[in-house]
Amino acid sequence: MSKAAKILPDLEKEDLRILMAIEIGMKRSEFVTINNIKFYSRYLMEETLFRLKKVHKLDLIIRDSSKNEVGYTLNSVGYDVLALHALVEKEIIGQLGPLIGKGKESDVYGCMDDNGNIFALKIYRIGRTSFKSIKRLRSFLGNRKHASWLYVNRLAAKKEYDALNKIYELKLDTPKPIGFNRHIIVMSYLRGKELAYHSKIKNPIKMFNKIIKQVKIIYQKAKMIHGDLGEFNIVVDHKDNILIIDWLQWVPSDHPNANSLLERDIRNVCNFFQKKYHIESNPVEIIQSFEKK
Ligand SMILES: Nc1ncnc2c1ncn2[C@@H]1O[C@H](COP(=O)(O)OP(=O)(O)OP(=O)(O)O)[C@@H](O)[C@H]1O
Ligand SMILES: [Mg+2]
Repeated sequence: MSKAAKILPDLEKEDLRILMAIEIGMKRSEFVTINNIKFYSRYLMEETLFRLKKVHKLDLIIRDSSKNEVGYTLNSVGYDVLALHALVEKEIIGQLGPLIGKGKESDVYGCMDDNGNIFALKIYRIGRTSFKSIKRLRSFLGNRKHASWLYVNRLAAKKEYDALNKIYELKLDTPKPIGFNRHIIVMSYLRGKELAYHSKIKNPIKMFNKIIKQVKIIYQKAKMIHGDLGEFNIVVDHKDNILIIDWLQWVPSDHPNANSLLERDIRNVCNFFQKKYHIESNPVEIIQSFEKK
């Protein structure tokens, strides 16, 4: 279980309010002064200091005493706590399960709602390993100077959640969006593993055609391109059901790089099926067929 999920039951609403006050302050600067935390929480100084001490001890915030005024900032566990708490309050989830996937820019957990439904919960962790991914998000960060990791991860979650909403209407094999808060999205879960790690696909030609057909419908009807399609972003279960996941990199079909991104997506799929299952296909012809109804 994640650290945040373990700590959450021990927190009182006053602790959460202090964390939220820091979160508000972080819109303006990385570290938030005690006076500002007091202001945003609307607590008296005594309560503010007491709560700060508690959440600091629990390792949910980081203190900086190198400046004139002491400042605090949320760490990633503190931010997880806020998002998980909100999802529980909204009754989107009741319980967090095991880690099911660890990407370069996210942790994915299983989770359950109060009715026993199981979902996948993706926590964005951009900036954990490199700032390259932050740079990739520049296009929609605009000219913001103070683009904190917190903001970048929240934007990423929103971007993927919006994509899931847009394609869900098409009723294809993409995750159903269930809910999101801050840097976390909750979506339908397919119990399986990435196409890349599957050794026993019963009917590879059928699966290849199914994937290409879905990419085509998404392109024609939703006017969207996945942008990071490949054998690692398609989950397959033991019955050959598939789920095309990881929609952060999507672009609209009128994007300046749309053609090359679409071509790369299709080539990735074609190359994989060619290498592993000896299925011959012509990516150029496939792409041309996308322009026809
Ligand atoms: N809806 C889902 N159902 C089942 N498994 C999932 C789901 N979403 C994600 N996973 C698992 O979690 C892993 C990471 O998810 P995802 O690809 O979305 O994250 P990522 O951080 O973008 O990964 P990377 O950057 O390494 O491609 C997936 O490879 C898959 O194993
Ligand atoms: Mg992925």
